[in-house]
Amino acid sequence: MHIAVLTIFPAMFDLFWEHGIVRRAASEGLIQPQAVDIRAFTQDRHQVTDDRPYGGGCGMVMKPEPLARAVEAARNRINEGVTVLLSPRGDKLSQQTAEGLARQRGLIFICGRYEGVDARIVHRHVDCELSIGDYVLSGGELAAMVAMDAVIRLIPGVLGGSDSAACDSFSNGLLEHEHYTRPREFDGQTVPEILLSGDHQAIAHWRRKMALIETLLRRPDLLESRRLDADETDILRQWSQKLKRILKDQTAHRPDSLSGRQ
Ligand code: ADE
Repeated sequence: MHIAVLTIFPAMFDLFWEHGIVRRAASEGLIQPQAVDIRAFTQDRHQVTDDRPYGGGCGMVMKPEPLARAVEAARNRINEGVTVLLSPRGDKLSQQTAEGLARQRGLIFICGRYEGVDARIVHRHVDCELSIGDYVLSGGELAAMVAMDAVIRLIPGVLGGSDSAACDSFSNGLLEHEHYTRPREFDGQTVPEILLSGDHQAIAHWRRKMALIETLLRRPDLLESRRLDADETDILRQWSQKLKRILKDQTAHRPDSLSGRQ
């Protein structure tokens, strides 16, 4: 997959390309990444990339001409794929969005700075706008790195079997279960016995159960929109019965319940 990131700070990406999974993907030829310096597409002596907004107001806006030329240059290299603008106004990046982007032949990311980019660039060149959350960064560069990281690890062949993306939180709509490694005992805490049992079926069941419970406790919204299978319904039913028993016992032991008061 060809990836171009249009930015006025191309050096920010040097470290990003050179570490971890992104580096491995590049060295195995699974991605061809490139940071494109928008400033190189200016035509004035001072290489200006921003200007004051029409109509007044605070902040500066990224000028359209250098950006348009940079997009066109990237398109000449990457003629198939989508162009993504990182912006707090965009759709929230999700695992599903990352999966969709990972299926593209090429990606062009535009990193806005200042108050944003001239709207005519968005109208003409941008296929989708992505936000990484409801907060404002000083530019799209970090957001582009977040999006690229989420996407690159999903490209077939990038992750090996042991760290398969299919095991990730969200990949099956649930958060992941907890993880443990050696030593067996650390800081007075022991590894759950089942993980040491060697019983792979029981371990898989425990992990499923824990994933479901973690999701229920931390992100109940994910369960609300999920079609539970029979196994999951069973696990949650058992939990709800246990909870009901605990609550019933608690009320039974309260002094006011003994005296019949509410
Ligand atoms: N640029 C500034 N803030 C951003 C955000 N939250 N997501 C994506 N791009 C941004």
